[in-house]
Amino acid sequence: MINKIHSLGGYIHEYQKSIANPEAFWTQQAECFFWRKRWDKVFDWNFDEPNIQWFVNGKLNITENIFERNLYTHGNQEAIIWEPNDPNDETRTLTYSELYQEVNKFANTLKRLGVGKGDRVAIYMPMVPELAIAVLACARIGAIHSVVFAGFSANALQERINDATAKVLLTADGGFRGDKITPLKKIADEALESCPTIETVVVLKRTNSEVDMVVGRDIWWHKAIDGQSDTCPAEEMDSEDPLFILYTSGSTGKPKGIVHTTGGYMVYTAYSFSNVFQYHVDDVYFCTADIGWITGHSYIVYGPLLAGAKTLMFEGVPTWPNAGRFWDIVAKHKVNQFYTAPTAIRALLAKGNDFLEEKKLQSLKVLGTVGEPINEEAWHWYHDHVGLNRCPIVDTWWQTETGGIMISPLAGITPTKPSFATLPLPGIQPIIMNGDGKELTGNSVEGNLCIKFPWPGIARTIWNDHQRFKDTYFSTYNKMYFTGDGVKRDEDGYYRILGRVDDVINVSGHRLGTAEIENAINEHPLVNESAVVGYPHAIKGQGIYAFVVCGELSTGGEEGIRKSIMQGVTKIIGPIARPDLVQLVPGLPKTRSGKIMRRILRKVAEGDATNLGDITTLLDEDVVDKIIDGALVDV
Ligand code: WT7
Repeated sequence: MINKIHSLGGYIHEYQKSIANPEAFWTQQAECFFWRKRWDKVFDWNFDEPNIQWFVNGKLNITENIFERNLYTHGNQEAIIWEPNDPNDETRTLTYSELYQEVNKFANTLKRLGVGKGDRVAIYMPMVPELAIAVLACARIGAIHSVVFAGFSANALQERINDATAKVLLTADGGFRGDKITPLKKIADEALESCPTIETVVVLKRTNSEVDMVVGRDIWWHKAIDGQSDTCPAEEMDSEDPLFILYTSGSTGKPKGIVHTTGGYMVYTAYSFSNVFQYHVDDVYFCTADIGWITGHSYIVYGPLLAGAKTLMFEGVPTWPNAGRFWDIVAKHKVNQFYTAPTAIRALLAKGNDFLEEKKLQSLKVLGTVGEPINEEAWHWYHDHVGLNRCPIVDTWWQTETGGIMISPLAGITPTKPSFATLPLPGIQPIIMNGDGKELTGNSVEGNLCIKFPWPGIARTIWNDHQRFKDTYFSTYNKMYFTGDGVKRDEDGYYRILGRVDDVINVSGHRLGTAEIENAINEHPLVNESAVVGYPHAIKGQGIYAFVVCGELSTGGEEGIRKSIMQGVTKIIGPIARPDLVQLVPGLPKTRSGKIMRRILRKVAEGDATNLGDITTLLDEDVVDKIIDGALVDV
């Protein structure tokens, strides 16, 4: 059992306790788990190096806490309910006992392939139960998983495999998404043309697509597991041994391999899951994310399974075969907690209410959102039409780096306010800073969101680049974790997240670095330079606007070059990073020192070029007029 708060008074009490005596508070949470050896010290930290350790010298295995700890009471209960892409195909369910056996089998398979504690395993798979099995099998034997979202390109996959120097790649022949098939193995083959550390590729048969199997390297999943024992002793891990790497975009350069470790992540995901969603035994919980993102790691796999929950995994997309797909799943499986992204809500809202039938939504008790600020219109639609005016909405603010939910209502306990993430979870100490490094105290203030005290789920480092970890998160403000988000604390002390204050954009809840997209655009042979900014987009939250300077035009003319730039980005990063608008410009607005004035480009992209502010430091003011004249509008 995980400790659960039941009332607003209880929340306030726990929150105060967690601040007054964090050792005692987190000891109480960690004692809910099975440790092979108890920790010597609850935490040890400084935000200077930074060096963060939780449950120091504790020994455990996270899968022992999912399985052995839950099997007596939950063995025959569903662990994973899997809903396939095609509604006419069959649902698959795995009980805790069945999942345990599958995980052990695959853990033994990995061992036989030479994977051991600390080795990295790259996973590039569709949303099928084997993906969760693969993740847990790695954890069982102490291998570090690095899941790469199956929408990323060959190039992006290659970069991630090589950064982590993974030994094995787990993939599938293909993946179904709506009426499309993603040729995963083909993309993986392209990536592997230059991945010297990969020894073996295990390929799951899912779409029956034609694939090339490389002799000596590639092996079919079903053959690999054949004959493997379904018992596999859990590897004893130190609390601070890495559990996984997950790549995310930053404001500069290449993606960062965020590292999460074992003990703290376990305690934090399970605690936050149980409390935010107020999960009760026998509830069916459905998070629509992909396991390729942190939401899927923490709130499809680890958090729910540690809590002994029934977690629903969906292979498909919200709008296929029609925009009622989510609600059909809710009705079919009597979903109680439903967790999705504002972009999905906006997309479904735009399709009208015909797909929402009250009788299909009766089982819902709690609605959640994550990934980006939710606008009030979407909040109200979600509340009134999906939640039928009776389900609390938990607007959960967190990040890949935080491991779990940080600021959020507790469902049915914290009074909500549209577009507000409301209050911090117990143990979380947000602080608002201004541009000059001063804390903004009291209510009705707006500034940059930092966290001043560690929590168990915080990332420990960036794989292979601790300096970058320090520079990115712990150098902007002294002795504080800087989130990169702007925030407002209103008159009631409630937090409203305003969005990124750095060069990160959030497209459909997916985080992208503008520099990363610019690098991809600049690979185009005709491009001299480029600048990318976000602009408000009705469905995606933010769209991608690229200003591009070309040396000369190709024979296809402007339209041709725009198209090929978009295709180039899709190829280098993946479809999620494809610019919505590409404007060819004669030059970029630069200061005399050569810095691009993004502020101006953002204004143009927003369609508001009337008030550009001070542009006297610009090298060439004419260029701005030309950019404004040629500005594009999304229709
Ligand atoms: C960024 C983190 C954490 C899982 C999904 C995204 C934005 C996240 C909210 C929210 C407003 C939000 C922030 C944050 N964000 N949740 N409830 N309200 N903004 O993880 O890819 O690491 O992105 O997403 O800007 O910094 P991520």
